[in-house]
Amino acid sequence: MKIVTVVGARPQFVKASVVSEALKSVCEEVLVHTGQHYDKNMSDVFFEELGIPRPAYNLGVGSGSHGHQTGEMLMKIEDVLLQEKPDVMLVYGDTNSTLAGALAASKLHIPVAHVEAGLRSYNMRMPEEQNRVLTDHISQWLFCPTQTAADNLQKEGVTRGVEITGDVMLDSVLHFLEVAKKNPQKTAVFAQLGIQPKHYRLATLHRAETTDGGLEAILRIFRAFEQLPQQVVLPIHPRTRPLAERAITEGGFRNIQLIDPVGYLEMLLLTSNACQVLTDSGGLQKEAWFMEVPCVTLRRETEWVETLAGGWNVLADLTTEDILQKALHTQVDAAARGRMPFGDGKASEKIANALKKDAE
Ligand code: UD1
Repeated sequence: MKIVTVVGARPQFVKASVVSEALKSVCEEVLVHTGQHYDKNMSDVFFEELGIPRPAYNLGVGSGSHGHQTGEMLMKIEDVLLQEKPDVMLVYGDTNSTLAGALAASKLHIPVAHVEAGLRSYNMRMPEEQNRVLTDHISQWLFCPTQTAADNLQKEGVTRGVEITGDVMLDSVLHFLEVAKKNPQKTAVFAQLGIQPKHYRLATLHRAETTDGGLEAILRIFRAFEQLPQQVVLPIHPRTRPLAERAITEGGFRNIQLIDPVGYLEMLLLTSNACQVLTDSGGLQKEAWFMEVPCVTLRRETEWVETLAGGWNVLADLTTEDILQKALHTQVDAAARGRMPFGDGKASEKIANALKKDAE
């Protein structure tokens, strides 16, 4: 069996690292990097740290409007598929690279396997929601991280090919957190940033819904961060950097430490040692939950509803008052963590086995 896998953005590199490892014994995998993320610290560092095979193709698509970016990927992926003639197309998550991979394959009647199928925010204005819904409806294998995801698919009439595998990001956290803890170059991150474990909060901001609010939206968030009793460490996505820098200058904020994006291993260490995470990211909400760190999600809805139980993750409106209220006054209930909704850390193996079984 030959699988072409399309990746393009940071979270996909993380997911591919564990799934590619599990696929090694099962099939030939041809990795295609669309180039959606291209900076050294948004892409190369992940391949170096996580031992992901070098992509056989880098399509060099880069940034652009949604139509341009997705369209260019679609054309270039089609060329790869015509040349490689794979049995399966494997895609992850909900980015423009996901949709382009799935659509290019589907048009050529190559069956699509979607890892992280069934996630829904029910907010169709989000580009990610559009990508998820469309990808799910043209996939033959729908690997769901949770029961909720499978239930969401059922509501849309999608039941064939649905399998609850658990979450590959849990596999990845369980494996790489141990790797990170043993690497002195990575554990040096605390000294480099001048922070003490458990005495800082960790934040990220990159979503279009956040940055589309412009400088005012970022100022409202930063005014809340400024009033928190611990320093806020903020690795900044290139999308948000210009606004964040202007906001810091304009607001004269002193409690926010803006840093370059960090690699996955340092990010796991920073997350597991934070006293709280504040983020608009989908993946980081869940990583915080895996590592038992309370999280404030800076959005009106979440796809990862399981994380909300017992206050481990709370949603905050993008107002200074609501963020402060949630960040300072949310109590967590340890008893709510009894259930493991994200599987047993062996999702990658289950995905590889399911693909192998169907190929036989
Ligand atoms: C994308 C995904 C989002 C995911 C995120 C993970 C879509 C629609 N969005 O968002 O779901 O959570 O990846 O990080 O696919 N840029 C650089 N260097 C890079 C990458 C991006 O400078 O290496 C800048 C560019 O100015 C670009 C902007 O960031 O225009 C946004 O990048 P893009 O890939 O369009 O979306 P993300 O915000 O990264």
